[in-house]
Amino acid sequence: MESSCKYPLQLSSVSEEYAAQYEESLKNPEQFWGHLARTRLRWIKEFDQVMDCDMNKGSFKWFQGGVINVSENCLDRHAERNPDKAALIWEKDEPGEQEVVSYSTLLDMTCQVANVLKKDGVKKGDRVAIYMPVSPLLVAAMLACARIGAIHSIVFGGFSAESLGSRIIDGSCSVVFTADQGVRGGKVIPLKQTVDEALKGCDCVRRVFVARRTGAKVPFTEGRDVWLDEAMSQESTVCPPEPLDSEDILFMLYTSGSTGKPKGIVHTQAGYLLYASMTQQYAFDFRSESDVFACVADIGWITGHSYVVYGPLCNGGTTVLFESHPIYPNPGRYWEMVERLKITHFYTAPTAIRLLIKYGDDWVTKYNRSTLRILGCVGEPLNREAWLWYNNVVGREKCTVVDTYWQTETGGITITPRPGPDNSPPKPGFPTRPFWGMEPALLSLENEVQHGPDVSGHLCFKRPWPGIARTIWGSHEAYLRIYFEPHPGYYFTGDGALRDKENDYRITGRVDDMLNSKGHRLGTAELECAMNHEPQVAETAVVGYPHEIFGEGIMAFVILKSDVEIKDKDIVGSLKELVKKKIAAFAIPTAFLVVPGLPKTRSGKIMRRVLRKIAADKASELGDVSTLADPSIVKQIVEIYKTKLIET
Ligand code: WT7
Repeated sequence: MESSCKYPLQLSSVSEEYAAQYEESLKNPEQFWGHLARTRLRWIKEFDQVMDCDMNKGSFKWFQGGVINVSENCLDRHAERNPDKAALIWEKDEPGEQEVVSYSTLLDMTCQVANVLKKDGVKKGDRVAIYMPVSPLLVAAMLACARIGAIHSIVFGGFSAESLGSRIIDGSCSVVFTADQGVRGGKVIPLKQTVDEALKGCDCVRRVFVARRTGAKVPFTEGRDVWLDEAMSQESTVCPPEPLDSEDILFMLYTSGSTGKPKGIVHTQAGYLLYASMTQQYAFDFRSESDVFACVADIGWITGHSYVVYGPLCNGGTTVLFESHPIYPNPGRYWEMVERLKITHFYTAPTAIRLLIKYGDDWVTKYNRSTLRILGCVGEPLNREAWLWYNNVVGREKCTVVDTYWQTETGGITITPRPGPDNSPPKPGFPTRPFWGMEPALLSLENEVQHGPDVSGHLCFKRPWPGIARTIWGSHEAYLRIYFEPHPGYYFTGDGALRDKENDYRITGRVDDMLNSKGHRLGTAELECAMNHEPQVAETAVVGYPHEIFGEGIMAFVILKSDVEIKDKDIVGSLKELVKKKIAAFAIPTAFLVVPGLPKTRSGKIMRRVLRKIAADKASELGDVSTLADPSIVKQIVEIYKTKLIET
């Protein structure tokens, strides 16, 4: 059958056209993606080949032969046409303290930072760590790396010195960007101090550029530390964009994995940029001329990379940088900001929505939200109650709620409802439909594809897409093992999903040993490794359980060494400190149980299924535990759960 799509494509979010275009994207991917890459991006030299991908080999090359510069796409081409247009609105921690940065100013800042890096000897392919508060200078630092072909590795400011240090070492970064301090929710975050601590164990770093955020006096290491503003003031605002290959690395970003060690997910230039910008435009029906896009995630997460920075800027839009906290100085913060900045698109995580529900509707309704058109969320399932509140209270039933499903590894949104009045009725709890070019497949443990409606399985993607991560930094072998070996011929997400009678998708949760608490991905092994450093502890086991606000709470089962006598409260205190020190404060378990043993099989494997039931307060559903090495331990743990649970 002839395709019903006409080139040049007029992509549309309206259901019927979407369906025909979706079909075209699967039938003629080369034509589809090739056309989009040619028309949406500015090339220094156009590519020769659209795609050269092999799902079986986990090998992905997009737009080969193409030469491009991401910062030029995000800045120069908009600054040429529209220099005064607002690129960034920096919503600082104190409400009303916003600063607007135009495209031409952001380009100037970026070039200055790029020249600072060049003068310092940073070359194409060098790794630059960024540990900064959400701010225009952070965006300039990212784009400056992109301008000269350096690879940025952003570490969220909530991570500890140890986490930061291990990421810097893993990427062998030579330069770090930080700030004197951060501020969030009225509290000071000692960023520079944390960097100093982190660098005690890193020989690779020779330079630290320090931005001024609070103006606090911070210790300086002679010969290593430089004030960023002083360095920038010496530099010209012109820096020609480095010509880069489509498949040169743009950035790496660490995410938790099954082992104790986070992995550096690698994204490259053209494919990532195309995918981030397309999804930002079409999943959100974003009209760059007039809309104001507010993704309130921290830039240190992939959501911030793709939908605070690269997507909106590539599209020439106005993007809000949110430095604060959803309930600072009060639970009306988001909606007061929506009114003041005339925000059209608001994108957050379900955990924030559930937190705000608790404070009541008045905090929302007292502000004017008539500019809002699209309400998005990401990170974990948006439960029905939260969906209804977002749609009815925040959106006054006049906005479209888009529950977007994706991952650090996918680069951009993969499954999402289509906004727009003509589309099928929304379905709470369902991200619903694949984005153009994405072909989800549900696979059984035996690798059988589950066809038709009303089935469930491991969520995989059958086809390559331009935004897919290309490797794990320093370990291509782990990349293949994690994503491509479980279901040969497919990319495996690690999530379970179901497809309902209308062919809409719902995510049922991770099927591996990953936790998702407050929208943050954490590995059970990562937490257990951290806590096992406590000398009085023999063993720990961590599981998730349903939590009203966090989505998933984290419960740690702790076994002490036999000769240890210590109060439960004290050991929990020291374990909390350990997690904070080794990972981050946000990773601290929400509940602890000090137990005499763990339910193990005769071969010594912890039966997490049993722990999960206990943690979910569903001990009555434990089922048969007779195969355990010591079945009596279960009863003891259940008793301790009832009487001695320590919630943090
Ligand atoms: C994991 C990815 C992508 C940015 C935020 C998190 C879960 C993500 C949804 C959703 C249900 C979701 C999945 C996924 N997840 N979006 N709409 N519904 N679950 O990025 O840290 O890479 O985590 O978050 O489990 O695998 P990430």
